[in-house]
Order: sequence, then structure tokens, then C-alpha cells
Amino acid sequence: MNLKKIKDAAVLIAFLAVMLWTSYGSTEEKEDKQIYIGVACYDQKDTFLGELMEAFKDECSHLEAKGYGISLTIMDAANSQRTQDDQVQEMINNGCDVLCVNLADRTDPSEIIDTARENDVPIIFFNREPVEEDLMQWNKLYYVGAEAKQSGQMQGELAADYIKENPSVDKNSDGKIQYVILEGELGHQDAIIRTESVAESMKENGVELEKLSYQTANWNRAQAQNRMTQLIGQYKNSIELVIANNDAMALGAMDAYEKLGITDSNYPVFFGIDGTDEGLEAVRQSKLAATVYNDKEGQAYAMAQLAYAVVTGYGMNNIGFENKKYIYLPYKKVTADNVTDFIDNIQD
Ligand code: BGC
Ligand code: CA
Repeated sequence: MNLKKIKDAAVLIAFLAVMLWTSYGSTEEKEDKQIYIGVACYDQKDTFLGELMEAFKDECSHLEAKGYGISLTIMDAANSQRTQDDQVQEMINNGCDVLCVNLADRTDPSEIIDTARENDVPIIFFNREPVEEDLMQWNKLYYVGAEAKQSGQMQGELAADYIKENPSVDKNSDGKIQYVILEGELGHQDAIIRTESVAESMKENGVELEKLSYQTANWNRAQAQNRMTQLIGQYKNSIELVIANNDAMALGAMDAYEKLGITDSNYPVFFGIDGTDEGLEAVRQSKLAATVYNDKEGQAYAMAQLAYAVVTGYGMNNIGFENKKYIYLPYKKVTADNVTDFIDNIQD
């Protein structure tokens, strides 16, 4: 081989090496700049969850400003843990980098945790809180939500304040408030704890209570209407207060009164939790006496920031964890006096 040939070969090799390096570099960069988030939702027909998912999509598009492409898959388990286990497996097989999981059965996350762990995919549980023992199984498990007890306490304070300001709530003037309670799903942390703490908080705030009955309506407006119709049949006009574990059920209870054509003067007062779009509108119209805002924008923001941080490694130190794993967003009281602040905020 003469010198020229050697030189030519060397140039060619160098050229190929540069080509290879740049093409390798660019694919690597493209891969690094894409985050695939897989979301497993227990039931997207749930009003609050539907609104939370919308807020989460917004937050993910804001994340793109950090220079990463976000690809988002949301799967709906229609309330079946089996279905959800399969959906999680599918998203992991498709190469997702991080999972956000809203458990169908909050007591049964073990299959999801095992699969995620085998594939080293971190999980951010949200809204339906696994028990602590489960969350402690691996250091890449997190929870974003709110403290149920706080929402019950605030709802109780709102009801107590309202009753003090409006003594006519005690329709039969016996010094006690006859009430019924509409509960969310059996076994859900927010149903159990809200029910307990709302009654405690009303008592602590000086309200004499008489609990007439309770019904489970699974967070659902139509079921609540149904259950409330039964309760009205049983207790007629003696119900003075309806406490619902969420807004959808408070609105369902109001539907029952409307549908039965009961006159306004025989209506009880209604209290909800969540501040869904319809809930806030009902507070604005003073149909719902008050609600407690379940900060879905804050939760969506925390989930998106945490998803970004666990995948890229950036920003983990700025996240305000409790006990290294938990992010709880505070609830806020909403009455006719401040409801427009919340409605305006959402429209922004
Ligand atoms: C909300 C409910 C919702 C439930 C679903 C609760 O935090 O208040 O409206 O149905 O979560 O898990
Ligand atoms: Ca009374």
C-alpha cells in the first residue's frame, strides 16, 4: 500500500468514525430527551379524577419547557385491579420510564410493585393511598395526595360556622342537628377518615348532633341521588343536614330533592368536598353551603415535577417530601364568599 492509499484510508476511517459518533450521539440525545409517563387510572368516569387528569395533562405540557419531550399514556381500569395490573405490565413492556398509579384496589398494589421493581420503573401512586407497609417495599415508590383528616375537619368547621350563623338549620328547634352522611367507597382512605373527622369536628365546634343514617354511594352522583331518595322516604322532612364525602354525592343528594319536587323551605343544608367545576358552581349559586378544595392542580403539579425528577435526576432535592416518600397538598375551605377566587384560578 502506498502512502497516498494509507492516507486515503485513514481519512475514510476518520470520516466514518465521525459519522458514527454523530449519529450515535444524536440518537442517544433524542432518547435522553424523551420521557415516557404511563398513567393507570382507577376510573376516569370519576368526576374528580377526570378533572385531575386534565390538570395533569396541562402540567406535562409545561414540563416540555424544560427541554424534554413528554409522551403520556393514560389507561383506565374501569375499577378492576386485574385490568390495571395488565395495563401496567403493558406500559412497562412499551418502555415507560415512570408510572403514575391510581390504584383500583388500594390494598392490593403488590403485583404492580413487583413488576415495576423488576424493571426498575419508579411508581408515583396518587389519590388512592397504599398502606404504609406497601409503600415501604422499595425506595422508588412515592405517594401524592392530600390528608383526608384535614378535609373532614374543615368540612366540620364549615358546617359548624354555617349552623351558628343560620340557626334556622335546626328546623324543629330541638337544639340538635339531625343529619345523614353519604359516604364514598368502602375501604377508601378518604371515605373512612372524612366520615370520622367531620363528625368529631362538628362536635368540637359545639354542634349537638343526631345521626339519622348513612349510605354508601361510591363517590357517584347518580348513586347518591338514589340513596338520598330512599333516605327522604324514610326520614321525610326531619333531615336538617346532608354531609357528603365529596361534591358529586352532595350534588346527587340535591338532585333527589329537586326530582321529588320538595319545596325549598324543607331542604336541608348540603356540604361537599373537592371543589369540582360543578361543586364550585353550586357553591356560587348558594345551593351547596360550602365545600373543601381538593387541590388537583397542586397534586398534578407535584406528580409532574416528581416524574421529571425521578427520570432525569434533576430537582429531586427541591421536592418537599414528608417521610421521604409522601407529598400532601393542603385542602382549602370554599364558601360563597371566596368561591370566585377558585373559579377564576381554574380558568387562568
Ligand atoms: C375525591 C373523590 C374521588 C376519589 C377517587 C377522593 O379524594 O374526593 O371525589 O371520587 O378521591 O379516588
Ligand atoms: Ca333539629
